[in-house]
Amino acid sequence: MVSPSAVLAHTAQEYQARPSLALSAEQVELRDGLLDHPAHIDPKFLYDALGSSLFTAITQLPEYYPTRCEAEIFERHGQDIARHIGPVQSMIDLGAGDCVKAERLFASLRPRHYVPIDISADYLETAVRRLRLSYPDLRVTAIGQDFSQALALPAEIPAEQRLFFYPGSSIGNLSPDDAHAMLQRIRAQCDGGGLLVGVDRVKPRQVLEPAYDDALHLTAAFNLNLLRHVNQVLDADFNVDDWRHVALFNAARSRIEMHLEAQRALRVAWPGGTRDFSAGERIHTENSYKFTPQAFSDLLQSAGYRDVAHWSDSRGWFSVFSARA
Ligand code: AVI
Repeated sequence: MVSPSAVLAHTAQEYQARPSLALSAEQVELRDGLLDHPAHIDPKFLYDALGSSLFTAITQLPEYYPTRCEAEIFERHGQDIARHIGPVQSMIDLGAGDCVKAERLFASLRPRHYVPIDISADYLETAVRRLRLSYPDLRVTAIGQDFSQALALPAEIPAEQRLFFYPGSSIGNLSPDDAHAMLQRIRAQCDGGGLLVGVDRVKPRQVLEPAYDDALHLTAAFNLNLLRHVNQVLDADFNVDDWRHVALFNAARSRIEMHLEAQRALRVAWPGGTRDFSAGERIHTENSYKFTPQAFSDLLQSAGYRDVAHWSDSRGWFSVFSARA
């Protein structure tokens, strides 16, 4: 297998002479997205080390309500939620990050086995070291995995009484079809267990858009940083100064869209390819779907879940759903 650094050592001329020079899957995905009309880049590229830190900072912004709303729901309704879920043998935390959200539920859910899964294995390892010290009786199995395509759990995790925990409205970053497929994948691993999932709700544009275009421009930095990440992965020559962050609520599709807009006509090049952008042309970088409780309930039921319940924060801006597989 060719390492990405070896791939990037080749010059543009070499690529042109030998188009078969190996590209990594990530490079192919980026190249194909940039050559598409309109251009797009998958939101997973927002999360390099700096992007992950910027996202953590975003969750502390006054405009970014989802994190606080979800915490309020767990604080106010934690016991009720735990009653609905019933006994939990293993708690499987999808996109666990620093594991703090799950940790807040340990007292009410009392899992015997905690299974955090995150694409960033290093970040997870640090969090897990801390957990092992604080909860010596809790069995912890950390898994570094990109669960967006496939969900494989080791045999040591008993099939009974599994609870899948998918907080933060991350499900809203998937297209409706991908969200449905993800819910089905979870259910296939759940055999009579449950799912606890955070979902952002439809609300006025005046609340939604500032949450994704804040006064301190942290979300703009988060979005623009993606271009630096692309420069690293694809050896492209994006100049961040040429681009502007755009966030808008697309009411017809019930989603916030993030784009990067070219400030002038320009050409972006990478080994073996180029893409010309006209002034004002955009690259689509993220969708964040917003649901009504009915729409999300219907989605859960269409993916085969039953016994669906949900709880909201005091303003009705966010919901936590519990459902049985
Ligand atoms: C991770 N995800 C749920 C965030 C969201 O709200 O869609 C990502 C984000 N994008 C911009 N701000 C936050």
